[in-house]
Amino acid sequence: MVSSKETIAVVDFGGQYAHLIARRVRQLNVFSEIIAPDSAIEEFKRFRGIILSGGPASVYDEKAPVLDKKVFSLGIPILGICYGHQLLAKELGGKVERAGVREYGVASLHKKGNKGIFSSLPAATNVWMSHGDFVSALPEGFEVIGSTSDCDIAAMADFEKKIFGLQFHPEVTHTRFGMKILKNFVLKECNCSGSWTIRNFVEQKVLEIRAFAKGKNVFLLASGGVDSTVALVLLKKALGSKRILALHVDTGFMRKNESREIMSVFAKQGLNVKLLDASNEFIGSLKGVVEPEEKRKIIGNLFVKIVNENLERLDLNAGQWLLGQGTIYPDTIESAGTKLASHIKTHHNRVESIKQMIEDGKVIEPIRELYKDEVRELGKKLGLPAKMISRHPFPGPGLAIRILCSEKEEAEENIELQKSLDEIASKKGYKGKVLPIKSVGVQGDSRSYRNAAVIEGKLDWDLLEKTSTGITNSIGGISRVVFALQPKKIVSVALKKGFLEKERIFLLQEIDDFALKAIEKKKLYNKIWQFPIVLIPVSVNGKNLDSVVLRPVFSREAMTAKFARIEKKFLEKMALEIMQKFPVSGVFYDITHKPPGTIEWE
Ligand code: XMP
Repeated sequence: MVSSKETIAVVDFGGQYAHLIARRVRQLNVFSEIIAPDSAIEEFKRFRGIILSGGPASVYDEKAPVLDKKVFSLGIPILGICYGHQLLAKELGGKVERAGVREYGVASLHKKGNKGIFSSLPAATNVWMSHGDFVSALPEGFEVIGSTSDCDIAAMADFEKKIFGLQFHPEVTHTRFGMKILKNFVLKECNCSGSWTIRNFVEQKVLEIRAFAKGKNVFLLASGGVDSTVALVLLKKALGSKRILALHVDTGFMRKNESREIMSVFAKQGLNVKLLDASNEFIGSLKGVVEPEEKRKIIGNLFVKIVNENLERLDLNAGQWLLGQGTIYPDTIESAGTKLASHIKTHHNRVESIKQMIEDGKVIEPIRELYKDEVRELGKKLGLPAKMISRHPFPGPGLAIRILCSEKEEAEENIELQKSLDEIASKKGYKGKVLPIKSVGVQGDSRSYRNAAVIEGKLDWDLLEKTSTGITNSIGGISRVVFALQPKKIVSVALKKGFLEKERIFLLQEIDDFALKAIEKKKLYNKIWQFPIVLIPVSVNGKNLDSVVLRPVFSREAMTAKFARIEKKFLEKMALEIMQKFPVSGVFYDITHKPPGTIEWE
């Protein structure tokens, strides 16, 4: 915990709403924490204000998440948003009903009065609605402070108790004065000063680290990614480099020359990091493995083994060492809405043995309260070079999950899928082929494993987006669509054998290096959030060679993502060069958003 004085609690009722609200509050320079609805009442007492997030449930669902009613009489200001608004109404004696149709999109809000959270807002303003249920009768003590044409009680307030409810979402940018409303709540109603900054964070964190570590030293795995590097620098600032032992593991699935480059950055920063070349062990353990989950499990276990070996060597149980981790906020929290999200990523820093160590107080996670952009800001404050700070995220299992494998050479043709694809693609002027491979996707709130499809035709982003969405929305068996950059005409696609072998790893490293250098040169690197390049065991037009998929995306916290639209001429040239320089039979461009696709293919 960073500050108990001026913290706003965001109660997480599911989905991704809670994180977005928490981030918005921090943008107002007020620290925020996400807490679970079933937290103990004592837990709620330490906050200056409480925001109840939206969520996918209906308040009348049997398993709908609820709050201890005592929360409403703590005298702490409360703001309920969407589901939170409905929950307030229901629990305080109002009424919630199911609407005939789901209201979804921008609506015009007409406010009544000029007080509280609506102070200094225009009389009418656009807000973002997304709900099925609505509040049909006010609880006692409340009055309507805003309505839209479809929703009478779009906003309500009990000014005396400082409890507010909004049917719309102030946290999304479509709500024109959303930040102003949150600001009114946080600064005026909750009386926060808005003085939380990364600089204060550093000062306070350094003291906290010293107090927590006492005389102990810290062992940490340093991948070279932004998070673990920032964590390492912060630990060094607090404890001095002599008390930190960092290890960089080269798994063999890193990018070309990456470990070498990372080690040289560490050295320049005066960080004491040792290099462990474990590539033979990692690659050897994955011999013949095809299933993505199996790959992840093996890699995760190997990391844990390396950590354990080192901790044993350091004799952790003698109480002299702590394990440091660069875990960040979205992966720290496990409450209603985020449990699933963290499960989807299967992170190494939350496996069972490490959870136990956390319980035993043997783990130190200095940036566990921060979001990615805050980690970057902190890195900058701590003097890390811009290039290091702006590095794209890279998954722990590295290229191992970007090389799809197959032990078969033939895939059964799926005539039904192909028929549906032909129908939908041709309506938009494209020709499509179902690919003989599956990739991971997110549908609803869980993972799916479905076929990918390739389409050929005009490189027109709007049309491609519509076609891709049309295909994944209406064909249950397809969760991902790629566009054929090379060759432009796809006569046939076939499955080929392929494992996680050195030859394929080297090939992907080279292509990845080539493409990243190209986007750096074009000054696109910092505009794109992440740019996975994926090797797939698919041969095109009878050439018995793998194909590649380019997967640049725009995103914020990786929970959702949009495929990037890159300048066409540049893209065409890059694809042609990849075809000419490397032994591949096709270059595809992923035109799937997340959801329904994921960022990685696995
Ligand atoms: P997906 O593919 O689920 O990925 O859309 C979301 C983000 O998480 C990254 N990722 C990982 N990062 N260890 C990590 O440190 C992992 O096992 C892992 N798996 C996925 C992925 O690169 C993307 O940024």
